[in-house]
Amino acid sequence: MPEIEEEMDFETTTEEGFGYELNDILYQGAEAKVTKCVWLGREAVIKERFSKGYRHPTLDTRLNKARTKQEIRGMWKARQLGVLVPTVYFIDSEKNQLILEYIKGPTAKYWISQLSSDEYDEKMREFGAVLGANLAKLHLGGLVHGDLTTSNMILKNGDMSRLTFIDFGLSSQGKVTPEEKGVDLYVLERAVVSTHENSKALLEGLMEGYKKVNEKQFTAVEKKLEEIRLRGRKRDMIG
Ligand SMILES: Nc1ncnc2c1ncn2[C@@H]1O[C@H](COP(=O)(O)OP(=O)(O)OP(=O)(O)O)[C@@H](O)[C@H]1O
Ligand SMILES: [Mg+2]
Repeated sequence: MPEIEEEMDFETTTEEGFGYELNDILYQGAEAKVTKCVWLGREAVIKERFSKGYRHPTLDTRLNKARTKQEIRGMWKARQLGVLVPTVYFIDSEKNQLILEYIKGPTAKYWISQLSSDEYDEKMREFGAVLGANLAKLHLGGLVHGDLTTSNMILKNGDMSRLTFIDFGLSSQGKVTPEEKGVDLYVLERAVVSTHENSKALLEGLMEGYKKVNEKQFTAVEKKLEEIRLRGRKRDMIG
């Protein structure tokens, strides 16, 4: 019957319309793969966490699910706090897949590597201040990122005022202590120092930007950060 056929055609078309078109792999890590795709006509990425061979499969699935859940909760919270993150388009909790808005632009890591020497210090300080202000906002709202590296930040369209944070799989939220906030900054500091040759201006800008948002938080967190650094140095000496 023509009527039914028409209906079936319609359904087939709809099904195809909701599918996604896979493009290049952007990133292939030990635990996750990020592939560019088009989702309902929009540029997007699929982030998929897969099993690590050496972990127990049940534990592994549980960890992956927990991280995917934390990632979504973290992005949600960050957005509420006025910090830029990719929009979540689709969640497949069975396959541990997320479809996220594609953020076009360089990672902070790449952006820094492209700076010329005459502008280096100035831009690094300016970027540090933007970064610090954003982190202070996250921390003030009770969200700790948990994996702050320059690869987990994208400058949307190359614009530092549109700094976008990604990779919230290790984030935590709720009652976040100054110690936890200090660790977040310490992880970032270590990552920056080991990734970039000259990071002094960035780190100075970072603390200035962080302080400007809320001085009380800054004072408490800076004190903890000092203690954490000292523990780190002692550990390094003992080996
Ligand atoms: N929404 C996005 N838009 C553009 N590029 C992205 C996006 N998400 C991820 N990427 C790219 O893929 C890389 C890896 O992504 P991500 O940091 O989320 O994964 P990961 O480090 O493997 O995560 P995890 O530590 O949770 O296993 C990023 O450094 C970035 O270059
Ligand atoms: Mg990452």
